[in-house]
Amino acid sequence: MDIITFLLHLVGLTFVFTYDDLAYRKIATQSQTYPGGYMYYDANNAVDGNTTTCTRTTEIGIFNPHNSVWWKVDLGRVYSIYSINILFKNYDGYGYRQRGRFAGFSLYVSTTGDIQGSTLCYKDGPQLPPLNFTTTCTGQGRYVIFYNDRLDGVTYPDGYEIQNVFTELCEVIVQGCNKSGVYGENCNIPCPINCKDSICNIQNRSCIGCKSGWTGQTCSTKCIEGWYGVNCSLQCKGHCRGGTTCNHVTGLCERGCADGWTGSMCEKGIHGD
Ligand SMILES: *[C@@H]1O[C@H](CO)[C@@H](O)[C@H](O)[C@H]1NC(C)=O
Ligand SMILES: *[C@@H]1O[C@H](CO)[C@@H](O)[C@H](O)[C@H]1NC(C)=O
Ligand SMILES: *[C@@H]1O[C@H](CO)[C@@H](O)[C@H](O)[C@H]1NC(C)=O
Ligand SMILES: *[C@@H]1O[C@H](CO)[C@@H](O)[C@H](O)[C@H]1NC(C)=O
Ligand SMILES: *[C@@H]1O[C@H](CO)[C@@H](O)[C@H](O)[C@H]1NC(C)=O
Repeated sequence: MDIITFLLHLVGLTFVFTYDDLAYRKIATQSQTYPGGYMYYDANNAVDGNTTTCTRTTEIGIFNPHNSVWWKVDLGRVYSIYSINILFKNYDGYGYRQRGRFAGFSLYVSTTGDIQGSTLCYKDGPQLPPLNFTTTCTGQGRYVIFYNDRLDGVTYPDGYEIQNVFTELCEVIVQGCNKSGVYGENCNIPCPINCKDSICNIQNRSCIGCKSGWTGQTCSTKCIEGWYGVNCSLQCKGHCRGGTTCNHVTGLCERGCADGWTGSMCEKGIHGD
């Protein structure tokens, strides 16, 4: 969390959203939909931009048939994500119970749609969450996954509901940049030119990886002498003319080979090794 966001939290203000809503009208699915009329409790109700329509799953809990639940949205491709806002269902006079039902959930960002191999960006607890919940969650991903469980033999913190836990999400807003290759809260600053696939951290412009031959947080530094390639992980083999180092991207000798050496990388002795 950056310092401004942190200070806003301290004084009880929440985020000022200037990012794009990446989840709006995308495809959502959930583990088990509560039986109801057509679309009534559908997973897509959380991404329809209408906070009066909500999802609902069959209940989980220690005396219920299921003990875990998931909901996920497929954003359509990999995006740079900044934050996630969830509006949980409230019922007048049951706010505390509702918070106890949602308590303990996890949020993942994934490129494949599976929780395995994805990045955990938030784990709730032990305090009960607010029903209008926001967290920063910076990363690159195509799917955002909500997960919760109520397992036998686990002691849950005070206030957690442990049976008949219905999951009801009225809206899930995924804030991020809908253009690629940019960062910043208005999604209008180009990422550094040597970032791999033009992808950088949405807040601080650090590249996720570098193009071949470059290194550093913003990939603005050439590989150190004697090294080249992706992650600067390859060692120059060649005997370059004038004792120079190889090209930091290709590994080739730019001014040709030293006397007595040949081959594309000047790695072969002319008279045998
Ligand atoms: C939830 O909180 C956000 C951020 O403060 C606010 O913009 C939004 O209006 C709230 N939503 C509801 C339904 O109260
Ligand atoms: C990206 O977000 C902007 C601002 O919210 C919107 O005007 C634009 O239509 C969006 N583009 C796509 C491809 O979703
Ligand atoms: C939101 O959904 C409710 C229930 O389906 C519907 O009555 C209402 O017209 C919708 N609001 C908007 C703005 O679409
Ligand atoms: C930018 O943020 C990422 C993820 O939080 C972090 O790993 C990286 O070190 C940060 N870069 C800088 C320059 O602060
Ligand atoms: C470069 O480094 C990244 C991150 O450590 C790693 O995932 C990737 O496999 C490396 N690529 C090569 C070719 O070494």
